[in-house]
Amino acid sequence: MLPTREFDVIILGTGAAGMTAALHLAPKYRVALLSKGNMGEGSTRWAQGGIATVIDPEDTLEAHIEDTLIAGGGLCDRDTVNQVITESRTSIQWLIDQGVPFTPASQEDATGLAYHLTREGGHSHRRVLHADDATGMAIIDALTARVKEQSRIEVFEGHMAVDLITRHKLGLAEQACVGVYALDNSCGKVRAFSAPAVILATGGASKAYLYTSNPDGSSGDGIAMAWRAGCRVANLEFNQFHPTCLYHPQAKSFLISEALRGEGAQLLLPDGQPFMQRFDARRELAPRDIVARAIDHEMKRLGLDHVCLDISHKPAEFIRSHFPTIYKRCLELGIDITRKPLPVVPAAHYTCGGVVTDDKGETDIPGLYAIGECAFTGLHGANRMASNSLLECVVYGRLAAEDLLQKTLNSRLLPEPPPWDESQVTDSDEDVVISHNWDEIRRFMWDYVGIVRTNKRLERASHRIKLLQSEIHDYYSNYRISGDLLELRNLATVAELIIESARLRKESRGLHFTLDYPEPAAEARNTLLTPPRW
Ligand code: FAD
Ligand code: SIN
Repeated sequence: MLPTREFDVIILGTGAAGMTAALHLAPKYRVALLSKGNMGEGSTRWAQGGIATVIDPEDTLEAHIEDTLIAGGGLCDRDTVNQVITESRTSIQWLIDQGVPFTPASQEDATGLAYHLTREGGHSHRRVLHADDATGMAIIDALTARVKEQSRIEVFEGHMAVDLITRHKLGLAEQACVGVYALDNSCGKVRAFSAPAVILATGGASKAYLYTSNPDGSSGDGIAMAWRAGCRVANLEFNQFHPTCLYHPQAKSFLISEALRGEGAQLLLPDGQPFMQRFDARRELAPRDIVARAIDHEMKRLGLDHVCLDISHKPAEFIRSHFPTIYKRCLELGIDITRKPLPVVPAAHYTCGGVVTDDKGETDIPGLYAIGECAFTGLHGANRMASNSLLECVVYGRLAAEDLLQKTLNSRLLPEPPPWDESQVTDSDEDVVISHNWDEIRRFMWDYVGIVRTNKRLERASHRIKLLQSEIHDYYSNYRISGDLLELRNLATVAELIIESARLRKESRGLHFTLDYPEPAAEARNTLLTPPRW
């Protein structure tokens, strides 16, 4: 094992949440910033539509709060929604100060605002600030540049956290998180990092599904690590399916932003007939759960492998200037969106549930925080409203850091983590077990725990995941770890938690729709899971 490294704060994840927290902490603390791949390689980089905030005097914070509560299907925590939306302007200004180049309003724009605003599903006003259709890339580029200027932040790329180190795990009284073991991909060895505070900013778990808009790393690592360490998780049955991902054999995970529908794009059947008017009066701008379910319904009813999205009625120059990334990518694949509709399908997109936190991002374990997509703060309820996620990342990144800045962190009292024990394991001779189990989980999650669920499908999934869990546990106990094995282990844990949560919800609400209980229950309740031995 490599020598232990000590810091004041360890942050796992270099997306919007992790880098925001690191930059706020750096003036006071020595920060280790770990990323399992290269810096900024998570979902943030791929965000297209933008980040929601109220800057138009015709809009109000109250309207943003109300829209979020409506999209959340009665399950949002009102205090959390109030806090995030009230704090949004400070966080957006902070992003602008870091150099994020949000798209300015055009000269012809009659609003008089400094920035152009788009509109997305569930929002009653235009309130989405964006950098063309590549908002995430603009945020990552700006925050990465600021992180590199900070001498008190040490970045560890290619370091994959394996498990959290807690005082209870070391056999000590008074539970607290005191560090993490991480696999250094460059040498295949495990290193312990110790610190009196650890922040999980590891993103979501949409890779549990066969078809997803997410990059490969969204395997729910932080949620699984927190669960193993003794934290409660909540509302994991609410996995959001984005209605429109490009349907093309060469276009793995390419999203077609909701902002297209915000600018008037229409969903059509392949014969050119519109259909959203049959499902919701808000048509293409209904919240995502409704649009994704309508598409799924039409695809199953007519045996289609996709539906179509058409923006070709807008001027070609408007399309090219508002959606340069989408226009270019589609053109590379032979589809000119200024001239014809493009084929789209729903895909797993966002994990609404996660590790339970308080209003500063602290979890059930003292010293352990969870921020961004891996956290459950109560903001999203049963369905996240578009562009509220990047907002949650930057607001909670700052609030968690401010909480830690007020505390006195004492690294001298930290216990020395025991060395990583590899004495009982050997090199695997059958890596096919990893790839096979990985594929199997993602396929049955898609088939049995997808957009429309039933008791029978969930029971089948529950049976399958239990068998796979025991196989993966055996494999983990006997063979030397690798990045793929760690992700598989985490993905299996999160899949089991999603299935268990879905089985507990005996109603249909927001993103959880089951044919056995098609109506919402009279009372809206969160699904809380408590780990064994807690
Ligand atoms: P991420 O950005 O996913 O970063 C996770 C980080 O954790 C990575 O650095 C990764 O390396 C690291 N990590 C993970 N596991 C480990 C481990 N075991 N050890 C060490 N490091 C680890 N939301 C919006 O609000 N507006 C949008 O327009 C929008 N568009 C989107 C478009 C796409 C295609 C996708 C996929 C998502 C979109 N979302 C959007 C959602 C939003 O982008 C994400 O919810 C958000 O970026 C998550 O940020 P994060 O910081 O929590 O995690
Ligand atoms: C999109 O651009 O459609 C994604 C927005 C989001 O997920 O919030």
